[in-house]
Amino acid sequence: MKFFIDTANLDQIAEAQSMGVLDGVTTNPSLMAKEGITGSENILNHYKKICDIVDGHVSAEVISTDFDGMVKEGEALAAMNDQIVVKLPMIKDGVRACKYFSDKGIKTNVTLVFSPGQALLAAKAGATYVSPFIGRLDDISTDGLNLIAEIRMIYDNYGFETEILAASVRHTMHVIDCAKLGADVMTGPLSSIEGLLKHPLTDIGLAKFLADYNKGN
Ligand code: E4P
Repeated sequence: MKFFIDTANLDQIAEAQSMGVLDGVTTNPSLMAKEGITGSENILNHYKKICDIVDGHVSAEVISTDFDGMVKEGEALAAMNDQIVVKLPMIKDGVRACKYFSDKGIKTNVTLVFSPGQALLAAKAGATYVSPFIGRLDDISTDGLNLIAEIRMIYDNYGFETEILAASVRHTMHVIDCAKLGADVMTGPLSSIEGLLKHPLTDIGLAKFLADYNKGN
């Protein structure tokens, strides 16, 4: 399972990268705004900084909602760095743009996916990644993890190569459940990754080992 971090915060990206377990980064316009990054030039520069920190794929979202606009923006983003994955919304023009980019060998991430049918369309359009938002489904009393299971079944039935990128991961248990269900990738906050480290018996055991070592020294 690949681990992506879902943030535009450079310190957090560097922290996750330094653990040696980070495979990529996802961003969106809200995450950029949260870091105070506004205006197309600043946003492009920020993507460059992110690409300099990580080795893997960096999802960069288009703002346009029409085919021509998405193609123009996506081509500019993809030309910036090989690591860039063009993130497209799950709307009709987004699906069309996805097919356009996949035919050209440009990597794509179809975002804002909330149903198995949407995921099927993204795969048909040749998406590199599909992003089902599990946390936002949980927020409205709908089982986000069930969507991951349904998409896994559909993709396995037909051998679709689109990778299931479980998005809107909010906590560590989401990461574990997505891994059990066979999601190819998860993207979440740094805390969801660091939470995997935690176990009280590890802390107790380490404290005992160190105390015993110090008795003899
Ligand atoms: C995915 O690519 C999105 O950036 C993200 O996971 C959305 O998460 P949220 O629902 O916590 O905003």
